[in-house]
Amino acid sequence: MLGKAVQDAMNEQIKNELYSAYQYLSMAAYCESANLPGFAQWMRTQAREETEHAMKFYDFILDRNGRVVLRAIEEPVVEFGSPLEVFERALEHEQKVTAMINDLYGLAIRENDYASQTFLQWFVTEQIEEEKNAGDVVETLKMVGDKSEALFLLDRELGQRRTVEQPAD
Ligand code: FEO
Repeated sequence: MLGKAVQDAMNEQIKNELYSAYQYLSMAAYCESANLPGFAQWMRTQAREETEHAMKFYDFILDRNGRVVLRAIEEPVVEFGSPLEVFERALEHEQKVTAMINDLYGLAIRENDYASQTFLQWFVTEQIEEEKNAGDVVETLKMVGDKSEALFLLDRELGQRRTVEQPAD
């Protein structure tokens, strides 16, 4: 049985992961409006992954005989100044999520909840990848600057990103 403190914090994290999905979908919509379909595809794939993250918490709570309680999701940011700003915000966001996961892990330790610690280790590792993915694109975009041909090629490259379940078009 899941303790109340960890259950509450995991319910909050379901909301945070779904907010992440919402934010990435909003970024995808901005990229579509900026005629960058590859960037938009990358963001859509990220949004799918965030929904999967939320469902991992959802299912874990249920597996431990806990109670899932969904909370209100705030509005995402809608407008961005440039593709670079989109990815800088994505990186900042992932750094915040890393801090949230670390806080959750710390709580599981204080509560002597070993099953939750094991479960959360996947997220600790995943956050390394999440920050790296966004950070790599930030660095590439800084190199690209305002060279439209390079931006076009990067857009094509980012458009290749898919989740395992998501076949190529
Ligand atoms: Fe679910 Fe991007 O962390």
